[in-house]
Amino acid sequence: MARARNRPALVAHGGAGSAGPGAERAERRRAMMAAMRLGARILRASGSALEAVVATVAALEDHPLFNAGYGSLLNSQGNVEMDASVMFAEPVALPAALRPASRGKRSGHTDHSNGSDYSVSAGAVAAVSRVRNPIVLARAVMEHSPHILMAGAGAESFARKAGIRLVRPEEMVTERARERWRARKQQSEMLEAERAARAAMGHGTVGAAAVDVHGGIAAATSTGGVPGKLFGRVGDSALIGAGTFAHGFGAASATGQGEAIILTALCREAVLALADGSPRPVAREAILEMIDATGAEAGVILVDRRGRIGYGHNAASMQVARYDRAGGLRHLWLKPIATGRRP
Ligand code: GLY
Repeated sequence: MARARNRPALVAHGGAGSAGPGAERAERRRAMMAAMRLGARILRASGSALEAVVATVAALEDHPLFNAGYGSLLNSQGNVEMDASVMFAEPVALPAALRPASRGKRSGHTDHSNGSDYSVSAGAVAAVSRVRNPIVLARAVMEHSPHILMAGAGAESFARKAGIRLVRPEEMVTERARERWRARKQQSEMLEAERAARAAMGHGTVGAAAVDVHGGIAAATSTGGVPGKLFGRVGDSALIGAGTFAHGFGAASATGQGEAIILTALCREAVLALADGSPRPVAREAILEMIDATGAEAGVILVDRRGRIGYGHNAASMQVARYDRAGGLRHLWLKPIATGRRP
């Protein structure tokens, strides 16, 4: 179906958690803006939302101050285990009746609010230690495998076959991550458990959501997980519907306590709510629902198909940046939403 050109927009997050030291905040801001410029340039050149979110997230994975890719937190055994996922909703040119019955693992849906047909596809990786950019591997799973989620050594073997260079796991460990891990090890088991329960503290999961001029809608998320996580633990960032979701209505990426985000299928709930609402109130409502259900800390960013952006969180702070034609490129340290009871 031929579509009018859409208004491109991009929103990214650098995690919800403690605000962190001032010097790190300045550098995190700079890094976030550099990553956003990459994504925004792709959208301005009529590139796809998928390219934009992957480029933005990959740039953040490369920066040691974010908890994703190089810079990931270490698990209880002192190793990096990373999760990432990506999802893309593309408008479909052919009327549904003329489309092939099967498109492999892709699935189609119609957005009845605007009559458009979309084809959605997704890829994800869990508990990988040997790839520099897990988001690039998640995209390769989406585009070059019959699967959606691959984990551990199997995902790394697939990476090699897909032409993605493997690194030694130690190459993904920064001195900062090692020091934090050592500091935690020196604490008692009880304190450690408490810290893990407040896992959003110092969180630096990264994510992005975008819409392109062709009407494509994408989201991507990447993380090293939560502090003190057990060996083998997988969080929301690997799970489509929890940490990442895209659909004809819009796209979302989450950050915060993965277990709560999984329990509430936060991103899918938020994106489907865009059918009847705009991103700002939908983001706020999604966080309130998550609090009601779990009492945990999390954040979400959203973009709808019209290029409108929303975000919300209930941690101490959350770093976001946004791009659209009206407002250009902006960076924000978001305050938590007011959590007073709803009317
Ligand atoms: N939200 C990131 C994680 O829980 O792993």
